[in-house]
Amino acid sequence: MIFAAILAGGIGNRMGNTKKPKQYLLLGEKPIIIHTIEKFFVNNKIEKIVVPCSNNWVNHTNDLIRQYIGETEKIVVIKGGNTRNESIMRAVDYLETNYSIDDNNKIITHDAVRPFISHRILEENIKYSKIHDACDTVIPATDTIVNSSNGEFIDSIPNRNKLFQGQTPQSFSLKKLKKLYNELSDDEKETLTDAANIFIKKGEKVFLINGEPLNIKITYTHDLKLANAILKEDLL
Ligand code: CTP
Repeated sequence: MIFAAILAGGIGNRMGNTKKPKQYLLLGEKPIIIHTIEKFFVNNKIEKIVVPCSNNWVNHTNDLIRQYIGETEKIVVIKGGNTRNESIMRAVDYLETNYSIDDNNKIITHDAVRPFISHRILEENIKYSKIHDACDTVIPATDTIVNSSNGEFIDSIPNRNKLFQGQTPQSFSLKKLKKLYNELSDDEKETLTDAANIFIKKGEKVFLINGEPLNIKITYTHDLKLANAILKEDLL
C-alpha cells in the first residue's frame, strides 16, 4: 500500500506576520494546503493521506477539507510534531496503529506548501519507491553554490554539475524509515532537518527523482506572489 503524509505542522515564521500559518493562506481561490491535498486525493494509487498539523489547527484543517473536498475517509488530520521529522514520524505511527505494515508499504512525504507538485513527479515517486527504500525529488542547481563555514569568506566552490536542490516528495519504505529514525541519537534527531538525511547518515542509498522548477516551496511573501502568478498565468 502507498500512503501519503502532507506535512502541515509548521508555523511559517519566514512568511512574516500573518494571522495563520502559511499553508492556510489563499492561493487563488483556495488555501494552499487544499491545492496540495487535492493532487494526492485524485491519485487512486494512494490509500490514505495523513495530514499532520499544529494542534491548534486540526479542527480548521478538517473544516477546510470538508468545505473544499467533501466528506472522505481517504484523508485524516492528526497532530503534528515539534520538528518536520517528528511530524513525519507521527504520520508513520498513525499508519502503524491503523494498518498492518509490511515491507511493501511506502510513504510519500510532501510539504503542504508545495502546491504545484505535478502528476509526473507524484507518479515517479510512487513507481520508484517500490524499487528503492528512499527517494528524493531534486532539480539540478542553477546558481553556483558557495561553501562558507563562517559566512564571511568562501571555503570552496563545489562543482555545480554534481549539485542538486532538494524538493519534495521524499518517499520511503515505511518500516525502514521508522527503524533508521529510532536508531538516531537525540542529538542527531534534533539536527537532521531533512528526512532523506536519515538514510544518508545510516549509509543507505537515496534514489534521485527529477523535480521541476515550478514545484516551489512557499516560504516567503514573494513566493506566494510568484505562486499566484503561476496559477493566474496557467504556467503549469
Ligand atoms: N512542517 C511540519 N512540522 C513541523 C515543521 C514543519 O509538518 N514541525 C512542515 C511545514 O508545515 C511545511 C513543510 O514542513 O509544509 C516545510 O517546512 P517549512 O517551509 O520550513 O515550513 P515552516 O516550518 O512552517 O516555515 P518556517 O521555517 O518559515 O517557520
